[in-house]
Amino acid sequence: MSPLIVSHLSKRYGNGLEAVSDISFEIGKGECFGLLGPNGAGKSTAIQCISGFYPATSGNVVLNGRDVGREPRLARRSLGVCSQEETLDSDFNVIDQLVRHGRYFRMEARDAVSRAEMLLAEFGLSDKAFEPVESLSGGLKRRLQVARSLLAMPAVLILDEPTVGLDPDARRRLWEILGKERTRGTAILLCTHYMDEAERLCDRIGILYRGKLLDIDSPENLIARHVPVETVDEEVRPGVHWKRRPNLEDVYLKLTGSSLVQT
Ligand SMILES: Nc1ncnc2c1ncn2[C@@H]1O[C@H](COP(=O)(O)OP(=O)(O)OP(=O)(O)O)[C@@H](O)[C@H]1O
Ligand SMILES: [Mg+2]
Repeated sequence: MSPLIVSHLSKRYGNGLEAVSDISFEIGKGECFGLLGPNGAGKSTAIQCISGFYPATSGNVVLNGRDVGREPRLARRSLGVCSQEETLDSDFNVIDQLVRHGRYFRMEARDAVSRAEMLLAEFGLSDKAFEPVESLSGGLKRRLQVARSLLAMPAVLILDEPTVGLDPDARRRLWEILGKERTRGTAILLCTHYMDEAERLCDRIGILYRGKLLDIDSPENLIARHVPVETVDEEVRPGVHWKRRPNLEDVYLKLTGSSLVQT
């Protein structure tokens, strides 16, 4: 059974807006699934419902064999989440932030400490271990929050725009870390607005638009099906054209159009 199964999930907020409409997908062991879509498409709402933080209006989510609606606490034991917004606890210093999270997930104290030390080293935060969280820069806080989502070695890892604010080196480092997680069998759900990142990391991609999944496929298949030409002619500045291979951004823009242009 796939570690994450989402079936006909919908979410309507109290104001009547249906932010997620009947979406279904599965993520297999060691698979990275990308959820792409414009601002307001419903990605974070879907993530909050999948994680059990918001109740779904209909549909269901099974995390590592447990139904999130019926057994939220048990289901969430298999889950690591890094939300879009900052959720660090300012009461604890950097290493305690991680260790306490591990203890909450019932790790032995020794294991939680050694895993925390390892992640701090991997994310370039070892020298900040005993600093208060408020003393970290924005990008360092983001690294810490991503590290925390990995601490308890979750079967399913959900990352909502994890690389926003990360410097190029930290971003590459995170890509490597996610590669290692995948070889451990972790199923990863990744939301990102960076098309290069999605193309590089994701086995399959779902394009969400106004709450609906427009298409799901591998980046290569999406490109072949939606931009079926070998080269794209692009005007880089007035009168200057160059040719390049089609990419995921071409697919994204074709399927979602521009939500900024009101016609
Ligand atoms: N708590 C809420 N109550 C009512 N409407 C909400 C709430 N949270 C989000 N929305 C609305 O639901 C829709 C989807 O929002 P959501 O945050 O899921 O989008 P998103 O795809 O994550 O966007 P972004 O790329 O900007 O993070 C938007 O129209 C948003 O205004
Ligand atoms: Mg969001």
